[in-house]
Order: sequence, then structure tokens, then C-alpha cells
Amino acid sequence: MPAAVVGSVLICALPISPNMCQCDSVAKASRTPDSLTEAGKLFLKHTTFHGLRHVFLNGSYPRRLAWLLAFLTAVALLFTWSSNRVRYLLSSPVHTKAHMVYAKRLVFPAVTICNQNLLIPRRMKKPDIFSAGRWLGLLGRNWQVSPGARDMLTPGTDHDSSSNEPPWSPLSRILDFNHFLPPPLESQPSMLQLLDRLGHQMEEMLLYCRFQGEVCGPRNFSTIFTRYGKCYTFNSGQDNRPLLVTMKGGMGNGLELMLDIQQDEYLPVWGETDETSFEAGIKVQIHTQDEPPFIDQLGFGVAPGFQTFVSCQEQRLTYLPPPWGDCKSTPMDSDFFNTYSLTACRIDCETRYLVENCNCRMVHMPGDAPYCTPEQYKECADPALDFLVERDNDYCVCETPCNMTRFGKEMSFVKIPSKASAKYLAKKYNKTEQYIADNILVLDIFFEALNYETIEQTKAYEFAGLLGDIGGQMGLFIGASILTILELFDYLYEVIKYKLCRCSNKKHKHNNNNNRGAVLSLDDVKRHAPCENLRIPGTYPANMLPHHPAQGNVEDFTC
Ligand SMILES: *[C@@H]1O[C@H](CO)[C@@H](O)[C@H](O)[C@H]1NC(C)=O
Ligand SMILES: *[C@@H]1O[C@H](CO)[C@@H](O)[C@H](O)[C@H]1NC(C)=O
Ligand SMILES: *[C@@H]1O[C@H](CO)[C@@H](O)[C@H](O)[C@H]1NC(C)=O
Ligand SMILES: *[C@@H]1O[C@H](CO)[C@@H](O)[C@H](O)[C@H]1NC(C)=O
Repeated sequence: MPAAVVGSVLICALPISPNMCQCDSVAKASRTPDSLTEAGKLFLKHTTFHGLRHVFLNGSYPRRLAWLLAFLTAVALLFTWSSNRVRYLLSSPVHTKAHMVYAKRLVFPAVTICNQNLLIPRRMKKPDIFSAGRWLGLLGRNWQVSPGARDMLTPGTDHDSSSNEPPWSPLSRILDFNHFLPPPLESQPSMLQLLDRLGHQMEEMLLYCRFQGEVCGPRNFSTIFTRYGKCYTFNSGQDNRPLLVTMKGGMGNGLELMLDIQQDEYLPVWGETDETSFEAGIKVQIHTQDEPPFIDQLGFGVAPGFQTFVSCQEQRLTYLPPPWGDCKSTPMDSDFFNTYSLTACRIDCETRYLVENCNCRMVHMPGDAPYCTPEQYKECADPALDFLVERDNDYCVCETPCNMTRFGKEMSFVKIPSKASAKYLAKKYNKTEQYIADNILVLDIFFEALNYETIEQTKAYEFAGLLGDIGGQMGLFIGASILTILELFDYLYEVIKYKLCRCSNKKHKHNNNNNRGAVLSLDDVKRHAPCENLRIPGTYPANMLPHHPAQGNVEDFTC
């Protein structure tokens, strides 16, 4: 290691000289600069700092000046380029990489399905109407049927109602609360019970279900509540059911459902409330099993009268946490969900907001707060949640998770039933042809191919890269390396040590003022810090006498 060699040469050379650290004040004045110059020369001769040698050692002045200019330019270039690189590192640059990964098997996603209609009015009994009527806009004050609802429900106002009784007419018969004794508050059905009982049942909706050619049925779906009421999830992984996997892409290896959306059972629209929907069909969300459905915001619609093909491609997105990206790297701090996802965060936040503001939760919210009653839905929960979703942008701020799986979708449609098949289907399901055309839909969900796309944010520049770049520039511009820098420090250390030594020497001059530098052997110097040695009075011959005290004081001062 050349630096160390040079260093030890210097270490030995400096203190061993009889005129150094001996504080012979007469000699010192003339000799010290020389010694430092010698040391400097030695340093310049051996240093790997090439430019310096040409600047300070022999040569004509123009030549040295040229070298000096070259050296300074090189140093300036080095600093600008290096600072450029340091700034680049501090800006935390990222690359985005996309790969296509071929998998032998892929976990089939969870598929959540909701009917657009919240509940089936035909099933409502008097107590149900009593508790939910106002929420549905059916009843006004004092449990009087609201005028809009009365118009809609009164038979005979329609032109053709005499021939074709509307399916909700049973409802109108029980709307009279004159002799109705309201049940006690605690035995009134909760919102969850209401929606569970009155929502569309999978057993009635599902006409046909196949997964990879294997028959599936309503029991392969688990019930989940959302803002659409009672919904169903296929392959949810709940209740210890194993997750279904796909080994092949293509339509035959996915899920095929035929559903009857039961349009005739839809809640008639008599006014516009929050729960009113004018649409007929189902909402579908394809999501991973870790992620709760958030179907009112993220679902896509499927219309009756069509067969809808949904070809999925899985995408795994990986983001970097700050300072590179802005994803959330800390684990989920929620009582309700284990894995962080955007939807989990939003549902968690909305739940907290509602519990704070209304002291109850909606049916789709986790936790152990009591469910809101229909009255609370109308008065507090629905308006509060709508406010939160549509206007309050500050309360629920959810960061992107660092890992995210999403499903890219391509959809296409064909009409069902065809003219040719309408009669057959009508016969098969014992319905009219019109009913089949209005209510039946087929949904096919499958992987396009057995591959997934990974989109990954990676750090574009790291500390190792910075070191490499600066090293390269140091080599290119000044021919130096880390060790060269160490040589410089070594030299500086020597100079400083020499100065300090001279200083402390003077302080102790009255103790050890002898002219014989030979007292200090080379070994002594190597073993101890040279200045320490000099402070120990016992090290020195007994015959030395303190003198020049006055001079010493003056020199102390100059140090
Ligand atoms: C510098 O000049 C001296 C004589 O002045 C000579 O002895 C020495 O070799 C020269 N050194 C270099 C590096 O040229
Ligand atoms: C549906 O569930 C039954 C029993 O729970 C199971 O045996 C069957 O494999 C499931 N079908 C599919 C397609 O998952
Ligand atoms: C993200 O995904 C990778 C691989 O898919 C996994 O190793 C890592 O633990 C995941 N990180 C988080 C926070 O889920
Ligand atoms: C077909 O439906 C009608 C009523 O819609 C019912 O009376 C009849 O029993 C049903 N037939 C079969 C075979 O299910």
C-alpha cells in the first residue's frame, strides 16, 4: 500500500530529525520550513496524485502553469460531474419494468356479483314495511303512504293494469297501517336481516354454473354484503374453501354463469332516493381474495339479454415506498383487515367515519358497531357516506399499496337468446319468451392466457452506482483513487501533528530542554505518539535544566 509506506516514511522522518520536537528554539526558526518542505517534496514525489507533481516539482514556469490550469480544470470537471451524480441519486430516480411471466397455474380471482336491485318487495311483510318503508320512500310522515308510491301502487291507473296485474300489487294490500300494532323496537328486523331475507337469493338467480366444465351451484358462492345489499362471491376462499386454480387459458377453463336477474321482482321506483336504481342487470367485480369487494365504485355492469365474455389478464404491480415512489410500505393498521389494499383502506376509513358520525355501521362494513336501522340509513348513514365519497377528499386518503394485483379485462358481447333458441330456453326454464329476453344473462370469465404481467418500479440509481461513477470520474479527470485521497489526508495529518508537536514542545521546554535528539529512538516514535513522549519528565536525562523560561512563554503565545 504505497500510501501507508509514504506515511510511515513521513512519520519516521519528521520527529527523528534532531531539530524537530526538540524545541531548540534557535534552530527551529530556520529549520522548520525546510523540514516541512522536505516532507512536502517527499509526498509529491511518491503521491499517485499525478497532476500535483508536475505543478510543484521541477519544470519551467509556463509548463507548470499549464499543468496547474489542467489540474484545476480537471478538478472542476470532477466536482461538477460528481455533484451532478449526487443530485441524481438524491432525486431518487426510478425505472418501470414490465415483464410477461408465464405461469404453470394461476389462482382464479374472486368474482363478486350483485343484482342492481336491493330487495324484493313481494317478500316484504308488514313489519318490514313498517321499519324500512320510510327509508325506501314508501311511507311519509305518520306512516302514511307517500303520494308518489300511492300513484304507482294503485291498480287501475295504468292503461293495461286490469289485464296484467303488476307484480308488486300484493304490496299495496299491506300498506294500510290502521290496525297495525308496531312491534317493539328491539324485535324490529335489523338492516342486515332485512337485506338478507329480502335480497335476491342465489338459488333463484343462478340457472347454470360451470367452472372448468365442473358443475357448480349456489353453495360455491359465499354471501357478502355491499352497498348493493346481498351479493355473492365465487371463489372467495372463505370458510376454508380451497382456492380454485386454472391450468389453461381460454374460455373453457373459466367460469360460466347463467343468471336470471328477476326484473319483475324489482322494487318499483316511485321517487328518487339514494337506493333507487333505474337499471336492470348485475354488477360484477373481479378481484383478488385478499381484497374486499368495492363493487359500487369498481364493479362493471352486465346487461340481461346478452352473453358477456370477460377475458382477464392478471397484472402484478410493485411500487416503491418513499422516497422513490409513494406507496404504503407500513402494514395495515386496521382492526378489520389484515392485508392492505386500497379498497380495504377505504372501507376501513368509511366505517370509522360512519361510526363517528352516526354511531352505527352499514351492512357492508366490518367491525362490531351496531348496524344502522333503516331510519338511521335515511337520516344519517346514506347522506354521510355520499358526502364522504363525493365531496370530502381529505378524510379518506388511501395510499397505493406497494403490491397490487389487478385484472385487466376485455369484454365482448353477443345477444342471448337468439331467435332460434328463445323458444327452447323458454320451455327449458318454464318462462315466457319475453321473460327470457328480459331477464337472462350469461357471463363468461376466463384468463386470456396463462401468463401475468408484472409492472415493477425499481430504483434506477443507488449508492453503489454513485461510487462507481465518482470513481470513474476521479480516474478520468485527476487519476486519483480513494487511496490517493488517503495519501492527502495522511500528509495533512503529518503537517498538523508536526505543528501541534512543536507547540506542546514549547510548553514543556523548561522540563526537557536538551539538545540531544538522540534520546528519542525511532522505535519510541513509532510506539507512542511523539508528543506524548516528550511530556513525560522521567524519560529525559536528569542533567537538563530548565532555562529560557521567558522565551518559552513568548513562543507559547505564538502557538
Ligand atoms: C529536479 O531537479 C533536480 C535538480 O535540480 C534533480 O536532481 C531531480 O532529479 C529533478 N526531479 C525531477 C522529478 O525531475
Ligand atoms: C362446489 O362446492 C362443492 C362442495 O362444497 C365442491 O365439491 C365443488 O368442487 C365445488 N365446485 C367448484 C367448481 O368449486
Ligand atoms: C410483494 O410481493 C412480493 C412477491 O410477489 C413478496 O415477496 C412481498 O413480500 C410482497 N410485499 C408485500 C408488502 O406484500
Ligand atoms: C311452470 O310455471 C307455472 C307458473 O309460472 C307453474 O304453474 C307450472 O307448474 C310450472 N311448470 C313446471 C314444469 O315447472
